[in-house]
Amino acid sequence: MIAPDPKYASQLTPLEHTYIRRFLEHLAPDARVLDVGAGGGRFAAAFRALHKEIVVDLLDQYPPNPDLISKDWPGDVIQNDIVTFRPKRTYDAVWMRNVLFLLPEEAVQPVFHIMTASLRPGGIMDFTMLKSDENFKLLTPGLTRQGVAALLADNDLTPILMEERDVPYRSLDGRTLPTFFIQARKARLTA
Ligand SMILES: C[S@@+](CC[C@H](N)C(=O)[O-])C[C@H]1O[C@@H](n2cnc3c(N)ncnc32)[C@H](O)[C@@H]1O
Repeated sequence: MIAPDPKYASQLTPLEHTYIRRFLEHLAPDARVLDVGAGGGRFAAAFRALHKEIVVDLLDQYPPNPDLISKDWPGDVIQNDIVTFRPKRTYDAVWMRNVLFLLPEEAVQPVFHIMTASLRPGGIMDFTMLKSDENFKLLTPGLTRQGVAALLADNDLTPILMEERDVPYRSLDGRTLPTFFIQARKARLTA
């Protein structure tokens, strides 16, 4: 059961709580996670509230919310451009929520590849991506179902969760867009 912490709980939807729980189920309690496009740090704060020993590095162009991510935060707070940043360590998991579709279209695949390369064998990639199809073109980058499958296969990732939901976005005045929610595991090393 997720114990609501008043500092961040109101910033997460019940659905996001569910995905956080499903994500953490795959991780060791002291896992190291990279939160790509971390924003204020609402997800990172939630991870640590549930797994006290987890270490989360936050990557964003802006600094996180100091009410959520204190100065003595145990992970790195990396203020950088996602498109040009190269991770300096490896991770047990990468969390990339509500950000891939904000990048320039030509950067989506390279950024995805670089972040996946920072995963240790058997590591978990969690990301969201807008869905496009032949009848519904987006102004921002989106993927078809086949596109998602190819992206995962090209990066040695096996899906463990793939759901499609109509999500209301604040910047669209609450209108909904079909969005993929994906968790995948990187291939383990074979002997
Ligand atoms: C919609 S917010 C999502 C924040 C967080 N993942 C969440 O869901 O609460 C997108 C975040 O990505 C960051 N971002 C977008 N493009 C970026 C880039 N090229 N480099 C660094 N950060 C970027 C923005 O600053 C913003 O904090």
